[in-house]
Amino acid sequence: MYAERVLSGMRPTGSLHLGHYHGVLKNWIKLQYAYPCLFFVADWHALTTQYDDPQGIEQATWDMVIDWLAAGVDPAQATLFIQSQVPEHAELHLLLSMMTPLGWLERVPTYKDQQEKLENKDLSTYGFLGYPLLQSADILIYRADKVPVGEDQVPHIEFSREIARRFNHLYGREPGFEEKAKEAVKKLGSKNARQYGQLRTRYQQEGDAAAIERAHALINEAQHLSLADRERLFGYIEGTGKMILVEPGALLTEASKMPGLDGQKMSKSYNNTITLREDEASVTQKIKRMPTDPARVRRNDPGDPEKCPVWQLHQVYSDEACRDWVRQGCRSAGIGCLDCKQPVIDGILREQAPMRERAQTFLDDPILLRNIIADGNQKARTLAQETMRDVRAAMGLNYR
Ligand code: TRP
Ligand code: SF4
Repeated sequence: MYAERVLSGMRPTGSLHLGHYHGVLKNWIKLQYAYPCLFFVADWHALTTQYDDPQGIEQATWDMVIDWLAAGVDPAQATLFIQSQVPEHAELHLLLSMMTPLGWLERVPTYKDQQEKLENKDLSTYGFLGYPLLQSADILIYRADKVPVGEDQVPHIEFSREIARRFNHLYGREPGFEEKAKEAVKKLGSKNARQYGQLRTRYQQEGDAAAIERAHALINEAQHLSLADRERLFGYIEGTGKMILVEPGALLTEASKMPGLDGQKMSKSYNNTITLREDEASVTQKIKRMPTDPARVRRNDPGDPEKCPVWQLHQVYSDEACRDWVRQGCRSAGIGCLDCKQPVIDGILREQAPMRERAQTFLDDPILLRNIIADGNQKARTLAQETMRDVRAAMGLNYR
């Protein structure tokens, strides 16, 4: 069985904001301590929609990587790299394109949605149609079984699963697979071989997920099996042939509840963001200018926190005692809105201080940043090349 592995990518959109931090990056930071993780900048994906204006992509990439590092993504824990620096992704994309039915791509819901949303752009291009297939190549090339993404990306993960399944079905059958698989079963020893057979039947006849799990455990525990035999045994249970590409699953990232400056979700397109490394004066000013409960026209008009976007930020940044103080003080007009905003300002600045400090290291020493990425590119390439050897061989392209 292939090892557990997390992979995720982000298009280089430039500076990230606190919504990205609370929604995505905190999750990455948690995952990096639990699994081997690969995180990359999807710069080719940026080109699918920005092909007419590509000049900003490179700077946006570096800014975004600095934000990742500032937030606490740790290059000693996770592999950080840039998609276009691992050209194997493009080779896999090409090879997968040979067996990808056009109808599958046209039916991915984001295809029409995005075309309609960005209707001032001509997105009837080959590259844009292939967006989900390039994403599949990103995932499958690392045999990543876990892909943390937001809800909007779930169709792309499902698409990747179907591509992996189709690939394994088409190319996972070596000549004489059936016989070789049966030989491999014998190598398990008579007791385990019998159990494997029973589990296989239970899985194939009843789709019993527990059976496949136990069979996988049994194969993993077996001694003296070659890698090829192990893979045959995995493939033989599922009836798909040898598992060359791993079917990934989405690790759904909870939608960010981070409110923006106007009470809507924080988003660049709403122009209501605070960036990760925004300077202190600007943060202070933005919060001070936030709208509050419109009923509080004068200082001694009482208000209702439920009608105030500042209150939503107290949910993120304040403890219960502070929130009590706000509820009381707002309803009784005991505090003014500027008083009320101060703990939020303090909370954001406290959160940002270590990020600003970490970012400064990389701003002062760009070589350090380049080295982290060069190292990540190299590690990612090594893994990608391993998969490509198997993929080429399976597709009859191993000219030796
Ligand atoms: N499409 C993703 C997004 O817009 C970015 C992405 C590209 C990605 N390749 C990936 C995410 C592979 C996860 C895995 O957010
Ligand atoms: Fe909003 Fe606080 Fe003013 Fe009440 S006191 S309206 S919660 S900013």
